[in-house]
Amino acid sequence: MMDPIRCPSTSPGSKDMARLGVNIDHVATLRQARGGYEPDPIAAAVLADLGGADGLVVHLREDRRHIQERDLTLLRDVVHSSLNLEMAAEASMANIALQVRPDKVTLVPERRQELTTEGGLAVTEHHDRLARLIRRLHEAEIPVSLFIDPDLTQIHAASNVGADAVELHTGRYANSRRPQDIHKEVAALIQGAQLAQKSGLEVNAGHGLTYHNIQRLTTIDEIVEFNIGHSIISRAVFVGLERAVREMRAFIPLSPGRS
Ligand code: PXP
Repeated sequence: MMDPIRCPSTSPGSKDMARLGVNIDHVATLRQARGGYEPDPIAAAVLADLGGADGLVVHLREDRRHIQERDLTLLRDVVHSSLNLEMAAEASMANIALQVRPDKVTLVPERRQELTTEGGLAVTEHHDRLARLIRRLHEAEIPVSLFIDPDLTQIHAASNVGADAVELHTGRYANSRRPQDIHKEVAALIQGAQLAQKSGLEVNAGHGLTYHNIQRLTTIDEIVEFNIGHSIISRAVFVGLERAVREMRAFIPLSPGRS
């Protein structure tokens, strides 16, 4: 049986809360398993919106293993909250972004064999390429976030290449089991979030977040957006997507320090 989820009562969508971006890649993964037309990520977008999502996130991978260009085009039409396109830092992907015009692009590292995005971007190594790509997207007024580990060098570099935001990779925190490891990872996220905000970057966070581990991070005032996919879609299999989103949304509480 699933754990009962205790939801604090909050009203979704209040602008004093951090935002919840719902990643619907796995709806497309299920569709691609049979190569047919169901379940359709477009229906998922509508239900996530009804559940109080502040935005939708999709990753158009170079191997097109889940989200397809058709999904992106249709999502651009139906998503009126915020559409966040995750993509590799490649010129061919930037061309697609410039056509579709998402509300935000999140640049992520991509390796073909990985199950999911496994680590953050090495911003220092790819400084010039990232700066060029960010400039192209900025010319079209598309804000750019960089998915990076909570590493102070990478955060400085993200600010130097002209990013608007960083999404701090929470995977190491999510995978930690021993209390001392969890403590260490939370401390790294707090330090990273503070430096990013001081550097003028908006702070987002995501990867591996669940109904059980999100609460520790919602106390970090600098984080204004959480992007969550797998846990919400997994829960949706049993309780439906609208409810699964509503329940996650309720875990992201009002923070007095947040503007
Ligand atoms: N943020 C980024 C940049 C990601 O690549 C992913 C995985 O697609 C997520 C958030 C969501 O991670 P999860 O599915 O583990 O919630």
